[in-house]
Amino acid sequence: MERPPRAEGLRSGGPAIRCAAADRRQWPLTWAGGTTRFVGLVRIFSGIQPTGRKHLGNYIGAIRQYVDGQDRGDPAIYCIVDLHAITVAYEPSELRERLYDTTAILIAAGLDPDRCILFRQSDVREHTELCWLLSSVTAIGELNRMHQFRDKSLAQRELVSSGLLFYPVLQAADVLAYRAHEVPVGEDQREHLELMRDVARRFNARYGEDILVVPEHRIPEVGARIMDLQEPTRKMSTTGGTEEGTVLVLDDPKTIEKKIKRAVTDSGTEIRRAPDKPGVSNLIDVLAVARGVSPAAVEEDMRSARGYGDLKGAVAEAVVGMLGPVRERYAEIRPDQDRLEAILAQGADKASALASDTLADVRDAMGVGAPQR
Ligand code: AMP
Ligand code: TRP
Repeated sequence: MERPPRAEGLRSGGPAIRCAAADRRQWPLTWAGGTTRFVGLVRIFSGIQPTGRKHLGNYIGAIRQYVDGQDRGDPAIYCIVDLHAITVAYEPSELRERLYDTTAILIAAGLDPDRCILFRQSDVREHTELCWLLSSVTAIGELNRMHQFRDKSLAQRELVSSGLLFYPVLQAADVLAYRAHEVPVGEDQREHLELMRDVARRFNARYGEDILVVPEHRIPEVGARIMDLQEPTRKMSTTGGTEEGTVLVLDDPKTIEKKIKRAVTDSGTEIRRAPDKPGVSNLIDVLAVARGVSPAAVEEDMRSARGYGDLKGAVAEAVVGMLGPVRERYAEIRPDQDRLEAILAQGADKASALASDTLADVRDAMGVGAPQR
């Protein structure tokens, strides 16, 4: 018997979300078995950590996609994951500040609280409950093998918390609580997405088909892994990268220009992408995204360039043009913390309505708590 599209398994009657219906197109959904269906409704979910130091990699790999997702998602749900942030050493008095920073960056980048659900993870208790429930179908060996766990646990000086090991289970709960179909992320999250899919499949196999949706990742073709400008064989990151090689979304134009002009390039003079030219390839990708063209078009355009200096000049100009308006809007949005709180509270209400529906089904299927219906 043919399976119904997953979207039919979604509950209706969720919170009223204004959607860009005129923009609605058909989107492919591929089942675990490989069949592809085209459906009009796609639930999008992604999460981002609350640090005010979001960088060009976050912007290109993730935030830009969140903004696009608003017009396709029904709904598009974006979560600032404060509970993930406590898995490594952190300063409690700063966590809320950084959360507001991140909220303001996302709004400044184009997220519109009327067109998406924007909320704080810890406001919706279903995430932590589902995390525990999913632990029953998560293999400890898989968690142990996660690259991010390996890297981050090595970096901890005092304590490797069990939260760090459990991080991907909470991430799975984030997405599965909404029965989301699509998860926009950068390349570094591929492994976590695979784990989440395994967890969902195992859950459905054990407790009942179609209770959870097996989500697909959405990793951009260009820009899924922006590299550090000083060490272009490492990904750009505020924790593992170099200060000079990391362009922050909130950097002023002069700083952006300086960092890009000092980017490490490769030997030779040819402006083309190649495995032995990581620095130049990275700059070409950044320019392609900032201009909204393909990397091949950038290579073509740069044929008449006199050298890497021209390429860097073009990249600096395009990145300043892309991030400048975000920085300006951020300065307007960030001071009004009451408004940010109100936006997050409204988002949490909408998110809770969806997540509690899933949790009722999950608890029921697992035989946990009093019978639901
Ligand atoms: P985080 O700040 O770790 O919560 O990451 C937020 C999002 O940015 C995730 O979807 C990451 O995959 C993405 N991301 C992080 N670093 C990069 C990078 N260097 N290039 C592209 N995407 C990235
Ligand atoms: N682990 C992700 C990161 O570091 C953040 C995240 C938490 C996330 N929950 C999520 C991403 C759910 C996608 C979906 O970038």
